[in-house]
Amino acid sequence: MSGSAESALVFNQIPHPAPVPGASRDQALADPGFGTIFSDHMVSVEWSEGKGWHDAVVGPRQPIALDPATAVLHYAQEIFEGLKAYKLTDGSMALFRPEENARRFNQSARRLAMPEMPEDMFVEAVRQLVLVDKDWFPSVEGGSLYLRPFMFASEPFLGVRPAKQYKFLVIASPAGNYFKSGVPAVSIWVSSDYTRAAPGGTGAAKCGGNYAASLVPQAEAIERGHDQVVFLDAAEHKWIEELGGMNLFFVMNDGTLITPPLSGTILPGITRDSLLTLAREEELTVREERYSIDQWRDDAASGKLLETFACGTAAVVTPVGHVAGHDGEFTIGSGGPGQLTSKLREKLVGIQRGTAADQHGWVTKI
Ligand code: COI
Repeated sequence: MSGSAESALVFNQIPHPAPVPGASRDQALADPGFGTIFSDHMVSVEWSEGKGWHDAVVGPRQPIALDPATAVLHYAQEIFEGLKAYKLTDGSMALFRPEENARRFNQSARRLAMPEMPEDMFVEAVRQLVLVDKDWFPSVEGGSLYLRPFMFASEPFLGVRPAKQYKFLVIASPAGNYFKSGVPAVSIWVSSDYTRAAPGGTGAAKCGGNYAASLVPQAEAIERGHDQVVFLDAAEHKWIEELGGMNLFFVMNDGTLITPPLSGTILPGITRDSLLTLAREEELTVREERYSIDQWRDDAASGKLLETFACGTAAVVTPVGHVAGHDGEFTIGSGGPGQLTSKLREKLVGIQRGTAADQHGWVTKI
């Protein structure tokens, strides 16, 4: 469902008192961590069969009342996005490639049999929230306003079919480091007992169910003293896929950068795509191809592999220092952040924050 008439939908503003600066809020903004503090507004838009998108509102952030039969609670028809708003050095606010999130949101919607949203409506909804919550940017170095647009089946109905009513919401959360300790390099557990996505499944969609399925393996990784879990392919349990919330890159000693291809079982990361572009500009040979766990171990041991990093909107670019699994463990390089990882991270963050030239038109000022 798309169309320009709908994309011109007016967002009604429901007045809400501006946040009163106080010790606890200021403290929270100085050390927000990730995902625990929320701004005081939200955007909501309704969709119903025959009517399309309607009732767009920018209002107070508040609980949503749901009928116990609401379809999403039973069949998990839900998708989401994650993007960040940044305060630039000149004091203005900007989004990074929000139209890519809009495009991916619609790809996810198609896979989950949900209505599509006009891309400009999606971006406008996000923009409206940032404007009204401009006082919620963290004061911490490297902080941003993390935005979470999501949509779920809101029709009360227990039959198994695509719902006829949906709710689209955007909420905002001041964000610092995704990893609690702001770790210089993360340690990863290789899951050989669980897989994240199979061919033909929903691995390329950003749907809540994928993340629910990753919780047990992720808990196993934490229990064993690691930060994250890496998933292997479902068919052969051999090829490296992704971390569940982050894509992976491998830096080789001949100037090659390898990342698993978008085969339908991993999420097409926007950070992943941006880094591929930046790496090509660094004259690296970029290869989107399968890379096996055995090769990873062998290349780390022989020194052919110099660095590994994970990337995503929340995690930005995070070095991987250590890998462990049922077959043993290995360290990558010195176990700390590698040179190219740091360089690519700096390049990306520079563009996002307006300290480096935006040659690709990735930054959208608000
Ligand atoms: C993101 O990086 O935005 C994600 O969605 C990953 C995670 C926080 C779910």
